[in-house]
Amino acid sequence: MTLHDLLGIELPIIQAPMAGVQGSALAIAVSNAGGLGSLPCALLGADALRSELAALRAGTDKPYNVNFFCHKPPLHDAARESAWRGALAPYARELGVDLASVPAGAGRIPFSNEAADVLEALAPRVVSFHFGLPSPALLARVKSWGATVLSSATTVDEARWLQAHGADAVIAQGLEAGGHRGHFLSDDLTLQAGTFALLPQIVRAVGVPVIAAGGIADANGVAAALALGAAAVQAGTAYLLCPEATTSALHREALTSEQARHTALTTLFTGRPARGIVNRLMRELGPLCPMAPEFPLATAAIAPLRAAAEKHGSSDFSPLWSGQNAGGCRAVPAAQLTRELADLQ
Ligand SMILES: Cc1cc2nc3c(=O)[nH]c(=O)nc-3n(C[C@H](O)[C@H](O)[C@H](O)COP(=O)(O)O)c2cc1C
Repeated sequence: MTLHDLLGIELPIIQAPMAGVQGSALAIAVSNAGGLGSLPCALLGADALRSELAALRAGTDKPYNVNFFCHKPPLHDAARESAWRGALAPYARELGVDLASVPAGAGRIPFSNEAADVLEALAPRVVSFHFGLPSPALLARVKSWGATVLSSATTVDEARWLQAHGADAVIAQGLEAGGHRGHFLSDDLTLQAGTFALLPQIVRAVGVPVIAAGGIADANGVAAALALGAAAVQAGTAYLLCPEATTSALHREALTSEQARHTALTTLFTGRPARGIVNRLMRELGPLCPMAPEFPLATAAIAPLRAAAEKHGSSDFSPLWSGQNAGGCRAVPAAQLTRELADLQ
């Protein structure tokens, strides 16, 4: 199956959905340039989802991808939450934040029937998921309007599982990737490999097209992934400095500094391992902190610390998501970057 048949796009470039640092503007620019723009929906309620989809529809007549998380909402664990708040207490005192007044709560919304109701009216051509797939009934709803379904695999087992459970293509997410690891069968991080080790293994193991993600930030990287059997590449970090992204000034500053050479997987900001630039909180608590409540509950107590620190111009408590290759980050329009990744200019 050609890329055009699968996704309706001309260039083998998918702009990775990146919750928190972009909305429809970045997706529109990439789709109009011939790649596949993605709208991350994990942080959007139904009204915001509706208005972002309306913007996408008004901004492009090309295919685009809408992306959702499909984690199982965790049970609240009072002991862990209290240990977590204890670990954060010295920082709260330093920043003048009253953690006791911060309610525990979810920070990311899994894909739901409510979201499917909103999507159904617009029938987006591509829908992608992170952390597995939604329930069979929800997945059937998405497929009922003919959507192509993508999801991330961090191991060969996950790729096989996704193929067996209805994914039309698999995103091989290498360990270099910025943002959340997409694993869903095992949280043993020692199972996870880098992009160019993982990609050929997944290509051999499944019959559906494979999309390469993680550390790919220039045309040579794209060509190498295609040579290893990828049908397309999904690039995230490379787009973070584009003017159409909503990446904060502090995040942009970190990405262009020496600091960006130091990344690690951390559970501190949401409760799930995600790759970001090492900052003070990660250095002092250790990036994979057993006290951090289960995803996405860790977010609640961190949010006011982050807000207070950012007010003073500090990213000590901010998630500075980045892959291991921030070298491809340039403040150029997303259309230009998309064409350059496809080696067109
Ligand atoms: C800032 C940031 C946010 C991300 N958010 C999401 C998300 O909302 N959904 C998702 O499926 N993947 C997300 N990812 C992971 C990407 O889909 C992809 O795996 C990754 O960007 C590829 O590696 P690269 O960043 O080195 O290009 C995010 C990545 C980054 C850098």
